Amino acid sequence: LSVKKELEKILTTAPSHEFEHTKKDLDGFRKLFHRFLQEKGPSVDWGKIQRPPEDSIQPYEKIKARGLPDNISSVLNKLVVVKLNGGLGTSMGCKGPKSLIGVRNENTFLDLTVQQIEHLNKTYNTDVPLVLMNSFNTDEDTKKILQKYNHCRVKIYTFNQSRYPRINKESLLPVAKDVSYSGENTEAWYPPGHGDIYASFYNSGLLDTLIGEGKEYIFVSNIDNLGATVDLYILNHLMNPPNGKPCEFVMEVTNKTRADVKGGTLTQYEGKLRLVEIAQVPKAHVDEFKSVSKFKIFNTNNLWISLAAVKRLQEQNAIDMEIIVNPKTLDGGLNVIQLETAVGAAIKSFENSLGINVPRSRFLPVKTTSDLLLVMSNLYSLNAGSLTMSEKREFPTVPLVKLGSSFTKVQDYLRRFESIPDMLELDHLTVSGDVTFGKNVSLKGTVIIIANHGDRIDIPPGAVLENKIVSGNLRI
Ligand code: UTP
Repeated sequence: LSVKKELEKILTTAPSHEFEHTKKDLDGFRKLFHRFLQEKGPSVDWGKIQRPPEDSIQPYEKIKARGLPDNISSVLNKLVVVKLNGGLGTSMGCKGPKSLIGVRNENTFLDLTVQQIEHLNKTYNTDVPLVLMNSFNTDEDTKKILQKYNHCRVKIYTFNQSRYPRINKESLLPVAKDVSYSGENTEAWYPPGHGDIYASFYNSGLLDTLIGEGKEYIFVSNIDNLGATVDLYILNHLMNPPNGKPCEFVMEVTNKTRADVKGGTLTQYEGKLRLVEIAQVPKAHVDEFKSVSKFKIFNTNNLWISLAAVKRLQEQNAIDMEIIVNPKTLDGGLNVIQLETAVGAAIKSFENSLGINVPRSRFLPVKTTSDLLLVMSNLYSLNAGSLTMSEKREFPTVPLVKLGSSFTKVQDYLRRFESIPDMLELDHLTVSGDVTFGKNVSLKGTVIIIANHGDRIDIPPGAVLENKIVSGNLRI
């Protein structure tokens, strides 16, 4: 009850032009918070989790084998590409939207996305639009940049996700005293995860507009996943279902390696496909969950979803997503929680859902500067906004790269490489401490460079390091 009062108080501080959307946000939050208070015990019963049946996760090759129809343009014209653009580049030390970080020859994630869709539209003479789901953290900066694409053959729409109040962990009351989100209140609000897409897309009115324009499916993905390009075979499978039964939700999954044990996996639960995240797994079963043999695949967050189904379920209030409780400590030391949801968790609410096991190349996320080094290097070639593994690399896998904490921030990372080394023959790179790389360095095999505290290692221009450990003044 006291939360309700606090929220009402906050709403009274909203200026009139912000009143309606603040009310919608706070109503949405109240419902989520209410569910959080009602919840007792874990959100999944481990005993009910089953391996998904054979045909519920199909190999991509099987989807591809169906080929493409002649009318690919008319199928494409029913598609909308949606990029999740609410996140900041904080884990790489950036202040602004992650989508505006330069990843390849000065091109940002957003530039590459626009290039990919423009290429599609030019090739097939179509009008596939791009929709960005922004948050209050990313909207202003993103919109400023969008003018740059005015002359591109891609119509770009944006809508904003909700803004929810962070809650004091002890009192369970909002930290915010009014609606502002600057000054004292900078840390009092948060975007509640990408699961918010259903409600905010619907509330924005854009969902109806696009349905009105004859659009049928959205292809949703993380803006930092450079492998998430429009796949015509999957699109065709959706638009021309082999058994005539339309599929409302496709989740692209890919085979787990030992490095992916944390990703959510698809399971069969009470007769439906369900995404289970590691946070939902009881401690006693975590090893079983992580095992690559029982749960072989994980969610790439590349999702294909029927617009009509989103509308129907949203109107029935029938989209059910587990609540993720995310604890945080604010700059001043205050412990808070924020309640979030994940877009893929809604799979269980849709009819005739399907998993498609796609090649690893469709999952190319950039979460750290180590990932950034890989995509900036000659391991990949860039073609109309899409990155593909260079043909000059002789092995099908990418090297394992671990850059130390002096490289965490993008600015520091860029400063430490005069140019990006040649990595075509690299298997493994570990760098730790104060290390810089001169121009045109080549890295091959396994290379480990460790500058101890107080030391500094400068790799000279043109150096070729092959199966080398470099540490202090010792060179082996
Ligand atoms: P996340 O932060 O959820 O996933 O963002 P991640 O980056 O895989 O998580 P980490 O690295 O394990 O923390 C995935 C995508 O969802 C967007 C981000 O911008 C990113 O493209 N996102 C995330 C939103 O749009 N809104 C949110 O509230 C959260």
